[in-house]
Amino acid sequence: MKHFIAAALLVIVLTALGLFALERVDLLPVQASLQAVPIDDLFSLQFKIIAFLFALIVGIMIYSIIFFRRKKGDDSDAAHIEGSTRLEVFWTLVPLATVLYISYVGAQALGAVQREDPFPLQVDVIGSQWSWRFEYPEYDIISTELMLPVDKQALLRLSSTDVIHSFWIPEFRVKQDALPSGEEFVRELTITPTELGNYRVRCAELCGTLHYDMRAPVVVMTQADFDSWIEEQTAFEVTDPVQSGQILVEQFGCTACHSVDGTPGVGPTWQGLFGSQEELSDGTSVLVDAEYLYESIREPGAKITNGFQNIMPPEIGAGLSDEQVDDIIAYIESLQ
Ligand code: CUA
Repeated sequence: MKHFIAAALLVIVLTALGLFALERVDLLPVQASLQAVPIDDLFSLQFKIIAFLFALIVGIMIYSIIFFRRKKGDDSDAAHIEGSTRLEVFWTLVPLATVLYISYVGAQALGAVQREDPFPLQVDVIGSQWSWRFEYPEYDIISTELMLPVDKQALLRLSSTDVIHSFWIPEFRVKQDALPSGEEFVRELTITPTELGNYRVRCAELCGTLHYDMRAPVVVMTQADFDSWIEEQTAFEVTDPVQSGQILVEQFGCTACHSVDGTPGVGPTWQGLFGSQEELSDGTSVLVDAEYLYESIREPGAKITNGFQNIMPPEIGAGLSDEQVDDIIAYIESLQ
């Protein structure tokens, strides 16, 4: 009994010390969404369980090493114990109850994270190698930045034009895959931002050469600021094809691979491209004119520039209207 009380005290002290240390580990960034609260609660519950289990195992081990050491010259065998039903029932029921409790709080947190408000802000999120595009169907707006009003739930509908990407904003905690291959694979994610500020989407699924750079800005603003942003975007009408082309190549993520200033990239730079002679991978060469660019956007694999790989997804060009392709060509032509 004396040993039992002493070991129990050691376990309690070690648990308190372990918890004190764990709570000082700066593991998570600022908590900036409603959905982050149940997830952070799960983290802190885990910390408590981890601190206790660590103390229980290590504490009793240290205690036994010190107080139950074999005495010098003692060669006798230890006591032979033939099992204990009471102990076995105890060490079956306690872990079982713990695991059931954890799955219960886990299911509750999942429910809280997925709860949908009656009138969320709809945003379609489209991932492409290697950029993000945000469409607001209620307002007919396309943006390369994710603008969200504070304290209003956003319902994100995630999809991809090529491979599997994963949408993740650490401050909001929740994460979801963006899958290719159509409407039935669209994944939903609900986010209610609670803190004004600037954040960043990152891709959390290895998706190719520029995976590390597949990021997009997120701005959480007041409802009034959001309303004026919407107004600004809808009032904004572009008539100049070059300017329209410039906006389109940002929105469709073309500039992730094609630089406009001569910087080498995954795809050929557009600076000085129009009107030049390009050497192709089959040894022939071609004059870069509107016809060639049209084909390269619609059918990226048809002619490959020497030194580059056939990796541009045809879905990007397929998602553009003829007018949009013409605007992009006008923009490329302007980059002399
Ligand atoms: Cu997209 Cu990694």
